[in-house]
Amino acid sequence: TALSLGLDAPFEIEYHEAIDSTNRRARELAEDGATDTVVVANAQTAGRGRLNRSWESPPGGVYVSILSRPDRPPAEAPLYTLAGAVATTRAVRETGLDARIKWPNDVLLVADDTESKIAGILTEMQGETDRIAWLTVGIGVNMDDPGIEGATGLRAELDEHVSLRAFVQRLLESFEALREQDPESILASWREVAATLGQRVRVETPDGVVVGRAVDVEPPGALVVETNDETVSLHAGDCEHLRCA
Ligand code: BTN
Repeated sequence: TALSLGLDAPFEIEYHEAIDSTNRRARELAEDGATDTVVVANAQTAGRGRLNRSWESPPGGVYVSILSRPDRPPAEAPLYTLAGAVATTRAVRETGLDARIKWPNDVLLVADDTESKIAGILTEMQGETDRIAWLTVGIGVNMDDPGIEGATGLRAELDEHVSLRAFVQRLLESFEALREQDPESILASWREVAATLGQRVRVETPDGVVVGRAVDVEPPGALVVETNDETVSLHAGDCEHLRCA
């Protein structure tokens, strides 16, 4: 319940000490007709990541799924993923760490020339012809170091206590403020905290590998890459890997 976290948010909060996946639970709530509900868990036993990967979800991490029904076309769903990534980045930055977003939705800590992933976003959606039926933005933030190469956690970086409650509160406030904005403002907020723009990138897509310079994001969240001979727009769902080349 909301009480067990003491959160003050414009959403219904459903809290679980442990659950299989907060995204799975949010879908179940959506299918029962719910909206504006946030599922929060202290641990997940079957956390889901992008591209059918699993998401390590030991106790004490942040596992949040925000269910809503934006009255927008399904093609705009990627904007909510970007908004989730910006909200997460802002919440991490408020702890004093220099977080940035690697397109489309990895939240990284960048120090010297190493990047470590601290959070990820997985959006799941049910679309109708002209509008989103429901949409869940699932956010996972590592607290302890997950022990995976290239990943880190908030507590591991900060060496001090991080209040989960305060962190989730900031995350939800930030997401709520962003989701009310128009697409251009969401993209503008994303650009401010992007790690990817201006970099040389190598992206695997179904049509082959694209190598070039990432120059912008455009609605509804595509990455614009300039290669030697053309400018291409890449869509998040299509891209397997993005490496800074
Ligand atoms: C990624 O692959 O980077 C995305 C990871 C998303 C994990 C979060 S944790 C809360 C929510 N519930 C899930 O099962 N997955 C997302």
